[in-house]
Amino acid sequence: MELCSGGDLYNYLADNSFKMPKDQAHRFMKQLLKGVKYLHSLGIMHRDLKLENVMVQVNEEGKTCLKIADFGLSTILECGKRINEQVGTPYYNSPELLRNEPYTFEVDVWSLGIICFILQTGMMPFNPNDDDELRRGVLEAKFGMPTEMIGSKEEKLIKMMLTKKVADRAKVEECLEVLLE
Ligand SMILES: Nc1ncnc2c1ncn2[C@@H]1O[C@H](COP(=O)(O)OP(=O)(O)OP(=O)(O)O)[C@@H](O)[C@H]1O
Ligand SMILES: [Mg+2]
Repeated sequence: MELCSGGDLYNYLADNSFKMPKDQAHRFMKQLLKGVKYLHSLGIMHRDLKLENVMVQVNEEGKTCLKIADFGLSTILECGKRINEQVGTPYYNSPELLRNEPYTFEVDVWSLGIICFILQTGMMPFNPNDDDELRRGVLEAKFGMPTEMIGSKEEKLIKMMLTKKVADRAKVEECLEVLLE
């Protein structure tokens, strides 16, 4: 992969006080969803999507583009199969991962939901005081949506991704369709 001079997305956001123009946040969401759709189409589950594993590439005109990095925890999974190995970064882990249940591609959609929430609002969906509180928050998918800061389409999309029940959680293609509507 080429050198991404914007650094990782966490530092990029931190350097900009976690504020991002709406059109850029929208573009970033689209790029991430397209990237993960491509990975899933190849049967690849990333399993560690988080701000620190997304790189910001800046071209000569100063335009930014995201690149998904760090495939250290990724794995190839046959369609329809599930896996039981516990991996990932706790803050970005989906309810089924926390419950130690067999899981599949939807774990990436959950993690993307966390990233998109932060991109859209500049805030974290869960603000726990400790690991137990985080676990309870994630298992209940209980997060406050600052609706005044976010468009209705983006709000709908984040809720589709941060859905606790796997069967009800959107697939990455469905998220992209909503975004491109
Ligand atoms: N293409 C790239 N351009 C610029 N920086 C990169 C690139 N790829 C990785 N990095 C930097 O290297 C760091 C670590 O990369 P990566 O996430 O792949 O490995 P890691 O095993 O998670 O390492 P760490 O535990 O240090 O995060 C990233 O956070 C990023 O700052
Ligand atoms: Mg990493």
